[in-house]
Amino acid sequence: MRSLLATLLGAALTLAAGSALADPAPIRATSPDGSVAVEVSLDGDGRVAYAVSRRGKAVLAPSHLGFLFTDAPKLDRHLAFAGEERRDFDESWEQPWGEWRTIRNHYRELKVRLRETTALARTFTVAFRIYDDGVGLRYEVPDQTNLHGANIAEELTEFAFAQDGKAWWKPAFLWNREEYLYEETALSALGTADTPVTIRLADGTHVALHEAALVDYSGMAVARSTGTTLRAVLTPGAGRAKVIKSGSWATPWRTLILADDAGGLYMSHLMLNLNEPNRLGDVSWFKPGKFVGVWWNMIKGDWTWARGPKHGATSANVRRYIDFAAANHIPNVLVEGWNIGWDGDWFGNGNAMDFARPTEDFDADALAAYAKAKGVRLIGHNETGGSASHYEAQFDKAFKFAADHGEMVVKTGYVTDAGQIERVDADGTASREWHEGQWMANHYLKVVQAAAKYHVAIDSHEPIKGTGLHRTWPNWVAREGSRGMEYNSWAGKNPPDHEAKLFYTRMLEGPMDFTPGVLSLTGQNGSAILSTEAKQLALYVVLYSPVVMAADTPENYARHMPAFQFIRDVPTDWEESRVLNGEVGHSVTIARKQRGGEDWFLGAIGDETARTTSFKLDFLTPGKRYVAEIYRDAPDADYRTEKRHAMVIEKKVVTGAEAMSLPIAPGGGLAIRFKAAR
Ligand code: NOJ
Ligand code: CA
Repeated sequence: MRSLLATLLGAALTLAAGSALADPAPIRATSPDGSVAVEVSLDGDGRVAYAVSRRGKAVLAPSHLGFLFTDAPKLDRHLAFAGEERRDFDESWEQPWGEWRTIRNHYRELKVRLRETTALARTFTVAFRIYDDGVGLRYEVPDQTNLHGANIAEELTEFAFAQDGKAWWKPAFLWNREEYLYEETALSALGTADTPVTIRLADGTHVALHEAALVDYSGMAVARSTGTTLRAVLTPGAGRAKVIKSGSWATPWRTLILADDAGGLYMSHLMLNLNEPNRLGDVSWFKPGKFVGVWWNMIKGDWTWARGPKHGATSANVRRYIDFAAANHIPNVLVEGWNIGWDGDWFGNGNAMDFARPTEDFDADALAAYAKAKGVRLIGHNETGGSASHYEAQFDKAFKFAADHGEMVVKTGYVTDAGQIERVDADGTASREWHEGQWMANHYLKVVQAAAKYHVAIDSHEPIKGTGLHRTWPNWVAREGSRGMEYNSWAGKNPPDHEAKLFYTRMLEGPMDFTPGVLSLTGQNGSAILSTEAKQLALYVVLYSPVVMAADTPENYARHMPAFQFIRDVPTDWEESRVLNGEVGHSVTIARKQRGGEDWFLGAIGDETARTTSFKLDFLTPGKRYVAEIYRDAPDADYRTEKRHAMVIEKKVVTGAEAMSLPIAPGGGLAIRFKAAR
């Protein structure tokens, strides 16, 4: 009834354009506990907007929706309500690996159907999933006479924040892709930003703006239009349209996580919940675990990927790493530069790369057998140099080679400037694509699917942003997608507050292959890393990935054995995770329970100033005694001096009834293992 009336009313409005007819009543829905509300309204021009509030206070003022097409009139005016659907959903599911085992997916769905009142009469639905900790919305567009697929020039989705605040964001569409330091500005001073954008509104509400389930669509950046209003800006494609769709189609979910504090953003499962369930079934062949590798010496410039006198991936070097891994119960060894193709200028050109042909000084068969005998696996590496089509042509032989050599994980790479991905179609047409464009969104998923057939997991570097697709494809185990440890080798190192920003921004996308654990605290030419030694340990708990590198060399670990013990002990798969305290850009304290075990691990990091972290131990099982193995900054520890190595390692018996208050030095951190007493 309501929808027919709304349609007629909408039509009347168009006919009476300019006259003062009342707008149709807005459509409203709330989250299960009523705290988050969405309201969809139409103005006198038939423009649709949605607004979001939390506990009765506006988060988003009415924000417009719509599309520009390259070959059809825009879709955003002369709309009328044409129906609505509501549904409640509450279900729990289990992650095969992750930061939490069990995830509850509890939302209320509202779908609002809109139809143009003009002769075109195009129709689409805006679907909202409203959670107690945020909202996801997407467009769902049926195949129809006047909208038969779409050539999308731009998406007009707005996010009109109702208050100003502080924003943490990375610039979008610049040459170095996702690898920029975070900007910290007023929301009203935001430029063009990659998502997630993390915002603390003036009233203290924390918001993360991102997207979920980015499939067959281009990645969404946001740009400030006026005041505190942001608008979607889609990543370009090689053609005129940024996105090309056929038949019926839908956008990814545009997501807002809403929380009282910074830690609340991290505790949300909204992004994962807005992805489709596991399509691979049993992935128990993938075992989360740590790795060492022939890597840091190349990042420091002491060894090379290319063949020659300093070639890193020699059989002799790799054997040493296998021995070191086996001796320290580290299950994987990454090897880069093992294959033919690195000798020329591979940056931006991977056409010489052969992903199944080792160099003559790397005896792949013998090393695979040697590793297997020692209970270790090699991790493969496929650097495409951005030549993505060249890689696609080799998928089968690349992943067969990996599987035949006992590799459970392959790290991929797309080292080329933004907008320089090399695409060559079947007919020979060559074009340049963006890492986060529609064609590459499809490419990254093709890699994951091709690898899954061989029981190989993927760790993508220079990736597309994480949007929770590891729920659907749980062999997509990690990605880079921000400035990792490698920047600590080079000039212009990551500043001491970098990881305290990453945690509340990049880490909301899911696992990051950050490669922590450089206990020598030195990069290229002995240059100092801006961190204490204790902080390197803390990063194993703070920055989650199911595959985590111990990035330093065996020789350096031999000089830091007491601290290395924590790296040996820390697991990479968790039953649950709890943020205990923290502020964006300043600090994090997080506790995680080992999956399939009784121990808890705690990591805390700060920024450039000294601080204390205080927390209750009420996450521990009541009545149980634990030995806390504490790795903390010494009183004189400081990332600016040689005292960056100063650390106190101590043991204490504790129970869940206690609390702790421990110091974090400038550039420092804290790592604790709570070992359940037998
Ligand atoms: C950049 C990656 O982030 C790094 O880990 C890798 O070693 C190089 N590319 C070479 O592929
Ligand atoms: Ca990189």
